Amino acid sequence: MNFKNELEQRVDTIEQTLKEFLPKEEGFAKTVIQAMNYSMLAGGKRLRPMLMEETYKLFGGKDEIVKPFMVAIEMIHTYSLVHDDLPAMDNDEYRRGKKTTHAVYGEAMGILAGDGLLNLAFECATMAFDMDLEYKRIGRALKILANKSGVYGMIGGQSVDIENDGKPLDKDTLDFIYRLKTGALIEASMMIGAVLAGADEEQVSIVEQIGAKVGLAFQIQDDILDITSTAEVLGKPINSDEKNHKITYVTLKGLDKAKKDVKEVSQLALALLERLQLKNDFLKDLIEMLITREK
Ligand code: IPE
Ligand code: IPE
Ligand code: MG
Ligand code: MG
Ligand code: MG
Repeated sequence: MNFKNELEQRVDTIEQTLKEFLPKEEGFAKTVIQAMNYSMLAGGKRLRPMLMEETYKLFGGKDEIVKPFMVAIEMIHTYSLVHDDLPAMDNDEYRRGKKTTHAVYGEAMGILAGDGLLNLAFECATMAFDMDLEYKRIGRALKILANKSGVYGMIGGQSVDIENDGKPLDKDTLDFIYRLKTGALIEASMMIGAVLAGADEEQVSIVEQIGAKVGLAFQIQDDILDITSTAEVLGKPINSDEKNHKITYVTLKGLDKAKKDVKEVSQLALALLERLQLKNDFLKDLIEMLITREK
């Protein structure tokens, strides 16, 4: 099977798994549940659960225990997008090819749906305790999930990002923002896969560095596509950064340098992956594909 078919198959399988864990649209709180499911099922590349599962397999993992964590990371990522699109943040109307959650359900429901997904993520992840007796691994994975999505991770990055809208940025602040707002969840995805499969501390630390590089390259490419792509291809508006007067990697370094760095940083990630001396060709191909991704 070629890479493209394998990728499609994995997205399908991940979406089946997500559906197993999504809440039923019933009861008095039905509206917020509908808004949560709307954002979760709107599409998306499912990159984070995919990276988690592939890293789990890289370290020899073969069980179902990774599944609740795959669902959890996609819920946290999706909530971060729902909140990122809110009028108080990037104020965007389209996401994943559809109207944003707040545009359909209203701002209050957008906020609550995001909060609901964050909590549900941890409810799902803790289901791993019912599936496996590797409590220590599950505990370590939970710690990573909480840390990398919180104020020392994604939320911290988003807050510095938003605080600096319209302001000049130096490279150190930009690095901080990218490492946290985007890097942290990608690091968490890969680290949790490794931890659940039994990787040791040194291996997990290498995986964290790989995730950081993949995350940085991913956000630079996101900035590039915000300028060079179309809303139809991206499924979200272009020129969102300019609208919000954001200094990005591209405005700071120029388009050509940004493109060059996506490649270079990704190659550093691949070199680190080599250092682990473990084999997962799909994971390698996936990181390579991200260099030239168009959406
Ligand atoms: C968008 O993430 C937000 C960033 C961190 C750049 P993705 O590009 O992975 O969004 P989906 O999940 O495919 O919609
Ligand atoms: C957002 O970065 C990263 C998140 C943590 C949500 P962007 O604001 O550039 O993401 P997009 O372009 O809206 O997907
Ligand atoms: Mg943003
Ligand atoms: Mg945005
Ligand atoms: Mg963007």
